[in-house]
Amino acid sequence: MESIYGEHRAELEEVMRRLLAYIEKVRGEMEETSGMDPVEHCLGRIKSEESMREKCRRKGLPESEESALSLIHDAIGIRVVCAFLDDVYAIRDYLSKLPHCETVEEKDYIRHAKPNGYRSYHMILRVDGKWYAEIQLRTISQDTWAALEHHLNYKKEINGNKDLIVKELKRCAEELASTDVSMQTIRDMMNQGHDTL
Ligand code: GTP
Ligand code: MG
Repeated sequence: MESIYGEHRAELEEVMRRLLAYIEKVRGEMEETSGMDPVEHCLGRIKSEESMREKCRRKGLPESEESALSLIHDAIGIRVVCAFLDDVYAIRDYLSKLPHCETVEEKDYIRHAKPNGYRSYHMILRVDGKWYAEIQLRTISQDTWAALEHHLNYKKEINGNKDLIVKELKRCAEELASTDVSMQTIRDMMNQGHDTL
């Protein structure tokens, strides 16, 4: 079967590489000014044929190049995992000023967590006026929670008390969120001490 990305797969990969290279540059600049690398890890992927086709069907869109490249905005997906909350927002600010890119959508699931407890900062960028990329920015804690929740939800047959499981998952998300705030506060206190030396 022909690729849902038509002849454009190499271009998608090139745009993803440019975005990853830009994030590396920002990372280097921030490390130079603050003395600390703000990024724990960063991953990029092109959505697989299979998941893109599945998403088209789920959204009631034809399984076409137009759907995959223009109507669905996460053919390119990048996840930036930071140690601290402030770094998430600092990187968000850099990304919003990226040359040849416009931010077409932003969702702050950190300040406004999803009802299940999911937290992350999502941005959709349009690159060169035509390619879309979804960037997910999150802390290590938020990434851990999302990974575990994803694992659990893949195990479809939940036999236990569903309400309790949902409630416990949400409680874990809140505990992790509170730890993120404490860790940020500790870093701020350490930096303050440093400034007055
Ligand atoms: P889509 O149609 O999938 O694009 O829905 P949307 O635009 O409402 O997506 P949203 O921006 O909320 O989420 C997009 C991506 O974020 C998903 O593909 C996941 O990678 C991640 N995500 C969103 N919600 C959750 C969640 O509850 N748990 C986990 N583990 N990941 C999530
Ligand atoms: Mg989306």
